[in-house]
Amino acid sequence: MGKGLFITFEGADGCGKTTQLNLLKDYLSSKGYDVILTREPGAKGLGEKFREILLNYDGEVSNRCESFLFLADRAQNIDTIVNPAIEQGKIVLCDRHTDSSVAYQGYGRGLDIEEIKSLNKLATGGKTPDITLVFDVDIETSMKRVGNVKDRMENSGIEFFNRVRNGYLELAKQEPNRIKVIDSTKSIQEVKNEVIEIVNNYLTNLTIRLK
Ligand code: TYD
Repeated sequence: MGKGLFITFEGADGCGKTTQLNLLKDYLSSKGYDVILTREPGAKGLGEKFREILLNYDGEVSNRCESFLFLADRAQNIDTIVNPAIEQGKIVLCDRHTDSSVAYQGYGRGLDIEEIKSLNKLATGGKTPDITLVFDVDIETSMKRVGNVKDRMENSGIEFFNRVRNGYLELAKQEPNRIKVIDSTKSIQEVKNEVIEIVNNYLTNLTIRLK
């Protein structure tokens, strides 16, 4: 069991989570915590190759193949970036993780949810996030934020993204202690304050001090 903290950021495309991830990094760093950022797909090194295929490959990609590519990228991220940093007592902020597979490949593409969950376990070696923040926004708003230039995943259509959004909300109901849903239609500042409150509550209750 590591000593650091693992926080994941989730939500449909265009939900604003990457902005909030950077704001939280600035906040925690200013408080003296040692923070690192990573993302899925596409942590540094090999992950960037996976990202290129997953977002830009323009030939046929089967749903199962897509799932396994995300999972392979996840295993690499956990083994080479997340776990070593946690062991060193750092706070790891990860842009997307296991819940993306359940929401996108499970609820979105229609693959078996329980199967995806057990494949996630295999990919992570059982490591789970301490806190997961789901940035919830209606799909009309998020698609406006994404704009007209869309990658392979973003071209999956409104109905797909509604299923993804509902998938996240369902997951949050199943795991209310880990997954916190934040209304991301609010202003950046309001959302930021909510994120900070959730994370500070968690840090206050930690028995091991991270700084
Ligand atoms: P990205 O450009 O990182 O999008 P965002 O800024 O919204 O996170 O692209 C990642 C895409 O990959 C996004 O559409 C979600 C999708 N994805 C999955 O479908 N399954 C997964 O397991 C992961 C990690 C991402």
